[in-house]
Amino acid sequence: MKPNMGWNTILATMMVLFLVVPSLVNGEEKKAYKSVDENSLYVRMGGYDVISNVIDDFLTKSWADPRISHFFLGMGTDTRNRLRQKNKNLMCFTTGGPCRVLNRPLEVVHVGLGITDTDFYIIVDHIMVSLKKYDVPDKEREELHAKLLSLKPKIVNTTEVPLAAPKREGLKEMARMENALGISNFNIGRFDEALSHFQIASKDDSGVGEYHFNEAMTLDKLGKHGLATNHFKAAQKNAHGNIKITGSKILKGHTSK
Ligand code: HEM
Repeated sequence: MKPNMGWNTILATMMVLFLVVPSLVNGEEKKAYKSVDENSLYVRMGGYDVISNVIDDFLTKSWADPRISHFFLGMGTDTRNRLRQKNKNLMCFTTGGPCRVLNRPLEVVHVGLGITDTDFYIIVDHIMVSLKKYDVPDKEREELHAKLLSLKPKIVNTTEVPLAAPKREGLKEMARMENALGISNFNIGRFDEALSHFQIASKDDSGVGEYHFNEAMTLDKLGKHGLATNHFKAAQKNAHGNIKITGSKILKGHTSK
């Protein structure tokens, strides 16, 4: 009996290996590849080879550009190659291609670098020139241009920062604490977390303009401009003369539209 049971076990194991495992592997393979829409920007701009060439080209130019090369000082070959690959995957993914995103959130990696509007537009220009060099048609270049511009609030450092709770009497303690937590998270680029704290603060003590201002600044960073405008307006209404609110350029950019 014993040798027979041994053979049965071996036979059963072989069946699992030859019949079941390959179908599981195929199933996994199917899941691992995202299907690509023939009308996607990814396909229309020329697919992965074009993206790869564009990223290599614009990064090489950016690293050599004396106006912005200081941002990339001290990056070794391996770090630079990783930066290339992360940017390739990001462009491939956001245009509808089959890649996975490898990078950390843009608002986290760029926080504290002190990137200005001018630096941002220099990079965008390099990308646009590289797209033309690799024959990406006008319409597709325009689409990419719009996508790039929408990333600006995540990348550019602003001199305007979230505001501490005002010193006046009668403010609710919980809202004050939530506002402080929001500021700590905002300062390290954790905008989703920051937003949830500012939301609690502005709901709990809705007459404090600073809380609405902070919520609006965070929404702006997250690209939610419509909601940001509502909270900038609430901040303006409840400013109590705080010129950091009434004189804010970001606020005016939203409320004067
Ligand atoms: C046009 C929009 C931009 C996009 C799509 C972009 C994309 C990226 C990506 C995907 C990474 C890698 C993130 C990671 O390590 O996980 C990165 C890192 C970096 N980017 Fe950008 N970037 C942009 C604009 C800029 C600008 C304007 C500058 C400066 C002039 C800049 C400087 C850097 C630097 C220095 C790093 C490395 C940060 C670090 O690892 O500490 N980027 N960027």
